[in-house]
Amino acid sequence: MKDYKIVCSLSAKDKKVYKAEKDNKIYILKEYTDESSALKEVETAKKVALTGYAPQVIDYEGNKAVYEYIEGENFYDAFRNATMTDNKPAMELLANRLSIFLQIMYSFTNCVMKEIDFKNYIIKDGRVIGIDFSSVDNGMPYEDIASAISYALLNSVGEYYDCYPFIDKLLDCFQLKMIDIVNELSASLKKRKEKSRDGGDIEMMIDSLTQFQENGVDWHKLI
Ligand SMILES: Nc1ncnc2c1ncn2[C@@H]1O[C@H](COP(=O)(O)OP(=O)(O)OP(=O)(O)O)[C@@H](O)[C@H]1O
Ligand SMILES: [Mg+2]
Repeated sequence: MKDYKIVCSLSAKDKKVYKAEKDNKIYILKEYTDESSALKEVETAKKVALTGYAPQVIDYEGNKAVYEYIEGENFYDAFRNATMTDNKPAMELLANRLSIFLQIMYSFTNCVMKEIDFKNYIIKDGRVIGIDFSSVDNGMPYEDIASAISYALLNSVGEYYDCYPFIDKLLDCFQLKMIDIVNELSASLKKRKEKSRDGGDIEMMIDSLTQFQENGVDWHKLI
């Protein structure tokens, strides 16, 4: 581990994340708060990396792990661009690609992402690659779908409903209807409320969703 030279720090929330260098190659070095968090993320990353949908684990020791550096476009930036330009095909493509990643994740691990943050995915060669598995846990896939939809609603550029093509497509990929996940979506929106830019919007979204729950949700009526 000591052979890696720190280039810069990328994050220092719970775990510390660095860009590091060894033999002229760039890697990601993560320093976790404890050994069990390191083991948890390493084990998940290894399983998903077999498919090419997660970075390879290069080195691992105690509370530190070194991962392959994934060069590509952050999913968050791609999503913001697509909503900013009202680019429906781009939003649908993003939903499709995210659903492929999630389905790979469910097939190769017994876990779900539990909480979806678009900043934890990088798009490379048309694939959505997961780079942060710290929140994974046991759960149901539809919790992830609800979490992705709540993230999309709160991070859409412009109005929250500008990302409906993304939401429609994501639900479609999992053969779900809004009514199937409305409770999980409300819970996820409420959980994220404190971090959101505008609490009022969220109340309105939840009210609208609850109102339409009985008859099924027609997204276009919510606008
Ligand atoms: N393998 C990787 N390749 C390229 N960039 C990476 C890789 N791993 C992490 N990064 C970058 O570092 C950032 C932080 O990493 P990570 O998401 O693991 O930590 P975090 O966000 O602090 O953790 P958490 O999301 O649990 O709070 C990512 O958003 C991404 O930009
Ligand atoms: Mg992260």
